[in-house]
Amino acid sequence: MRLVVLVSGTGTILEAIIGAGVPVALVVSDRPCPAIERAETAGVEAVVVARENFGADFDRHAYTVRLTSLLEEAAIDLVAMAGFGTILAAPIYDRYAGRILNTHPSLLPAFPGWHAVEDALAHGVKVTGCTVHQATLAVDSGPILAQEAVAVLPDDDAASLHERIKAVERRLYVEVITRVMADQPVAAR
Ligand code: GRF
Repeated sequence: MRLVVLVSGTGTILEAIIGAGVPVALVVSDRPCPAIERAETAGVEAVVVARENFGADFDRHAYTVRLTSLLEEAAIDLVAMAGFGTILAAPIYDRYAGRILNTHPSLLPAFPGWHAVEDALAHGVKVTGCTVHQATLAVDSGPILAQEAVAVLPDDDAASLHERIKAVERRLYVEVITRVMADQPVAAR
């Protein structure tokens, strides 16, 4: 099974996936970012499919078609988003239905969206966590495959809490991806 990891940021989860020995066929980002450098350092093929803009007139559909075509050309079977910063449109969810995974730094359905950690802190929750789920067209709401709780400590800020959550994501996401690649059952609701 050929896996692509989609990234936009620092790429520490990508690094954990590669470091665990999961075969990554390709890494794709939507912008130049440290994650691409991590892939190259690890000897994994890495491609930037750069967004033409980050404004309101961004053509999400055209971008998704470009990305999906690249994945098809690379004979990709399974897509794992790991901090990917572009919301994708229907074509990739049609082509890779049920074959797109995501990890999110909250216990979904609480705190969807890009600011999950800040939102959890602002809400004053005492426990948050991470969720590995199938990604669907509706953002952060696909079938949940795995979750794990992380305590919010009294002196946490967004950086310290996010780092504690990411430490769990690096293990939990690798476990789920490994099971999916081995065709082992992963409970979805
Ligand atoms: C993770 O918390 C992921 O859930 C979120 O972005 C973060 C990616 O971290 N969507 P990194 O770039 O792998 O360090």
